[in-house]
Amino acid sequence: MTLISKIDENNIDKQEIKKQAEILKNGNTVIFPTETVYGLGANALDNIAAAKIYAAKGRPSDNPLIVHIYDKKQVDELATDISEKAYTIMDKFWPGPITIILKKKDIVPNITSGGLDTVGIRMPSNPIAKELLKEVNLPIAAPSANISGRPSPTKGKHVYNEMNNRVDGIILGGDCTFGLESTVVDLTNDIPTILRPGSVTKEDLESIIGQVNIDPALEKKEDNIKAKAPGMKYKHYSPNADVYIVSGNINDVIKKINELSNNNAKEGLKCAVMCLDKNKNKYKCNTIVLGRNLEEVASNLFNALITADEEKYDIVYTEEFSNCGVGRAIMNRLLKSAGYKIIKV
Ligand code: TXA
Ligand code: MG
Repeated sequence: MTLISKIDENNIDKQEIKKQAEILKNGNTVIFPTETVYGLGANALDNIAAAKIYAAKGRPSDNPLIVHIYDKKQVDELATDISEKAYTIMDKFWPGPITIILKKKDIVPNITSGGLDTVGIRMPSNPIAKELLKEVNLPIAAPSANISGRPSPTKGKHVYNEMNNRVDGIILGGDCTFGLESTVVDLTNDIPTILRPGSVTKEDLESIIGQVNIDPALEKKEDNIKAKAPGMKYKHYSPNADVYIVSGNINDVIKKINELSNNNAKEGLKCAVMCLDKNKNKYKCNTIVLGRNLEEVASNLFNALITADEEKYDIVYTEEFSNCGVGRAIMNRLLKSAGYKIIKV
C-alpha cells in the first residue's frame, strides 16, 4: 500500500510531511515534487533503502543517484575536495535546478554513487521538497520518479498513474515549474563539464565561473555509450509512439510534416505534431502545443510525450528548437525520445 498525501505548496500540511518523512527514516521510498520533475526518494546513506529505488524504477544499478539536501552544510558530510567554483555555484543557484558532481566521501555507499568515486548533490527549491528534506534530516537519493526509460513525471497524475503501489509514499504537490531535470555539472576537474543540460545553462554558468565545457558525448547517439553521466546512455524519455524531429526552415518543416502525416493517415496510422503555439493552425494533422517560448516548451515537454501515449498516437513529429540556452536541454531530451531520428528538409 502506498500512503498518498496531497499537499498544497502554499499551505504545507506539516502533519502529512511528518508521516512521509517517517517512511523515509524507516528506510522506505517516497515520491515528492521538486521544481524540475518528481523524484523517487530514499535514504542515500542506506544500501537497502537505495536498492529499493532501483527496484521501483526497474533501473540498472550502475546508474548513479542524485543526493538531495536542504542545507549547504550537508555537502561537507558527503563530498571532499570542494573547489571554489563549486561554492560559487552553490551560492548563486541553490536552492535550485542544478546538480554538482564532487568527489565522494566513504559515507556515500556504492549503490548510491553507481560504483563511481563521485557523488551528485542538489538542493531543490520546491517548498514541499525543502520541508520534507528538513523534517527527515538525511540526504535523500532521488532519481526522476518514472519507470526507467519513460518520460520524467512533471504532474501529480503522472506519478500516481505510473508509480502507485510501487513505492511506500507519494506526495502529490501540483505541477513542477521547470519541467526538465536539473543541469548536471561535473566539478571534479579544473574546467567544469556539463554532463546533462538543464535550465541553468552553460551561459549562466560561464557568467560566474568562466569556461565550462559540454560533455561531447551528449550530442551524438554513438557517443552516448561513453557519456560520463551514465544515465545518459540508456534509452530515455520514450513514449510508445515513434518520435521524429523534423529539422530545417520552419515553412519547409510544416510542409514536410503535412505531407508525411497525410501519407501516414492513408496507412491508418494516427499521428500528431508537437509544435509552438504560433504554428498550430498551419498543420493539417493533430497538434500537441508545447508552448509559446522555450521556457514553456521545457516545462510542457514531458507532459506532451505522456499525452501522446494517452491519446494513442503511432507517430509524433516534432519541430526543432535552437540548441542554445534552455533550448540545449530541450533538444537533448527530444533527441533521446526520438531515438536520434531526424528528418532533414
Ligand atoms: O532534476 C533532477 O535532477 C531530478 C530531480 C528528482 O531532482 N532527478 C533526476 O535524477 O533527474 P536521475 O537519476 O533521473 O538523473 C540523474 C542523472 C543521470 O544522468 C546520472 O547518470 C547523473 O545524473 N549522475 C548522477 N550522479 C552522477 C555522478 N556521480 N557522476 C556522473 N553522473 C551522475
Ligand atoms: Mg531520470
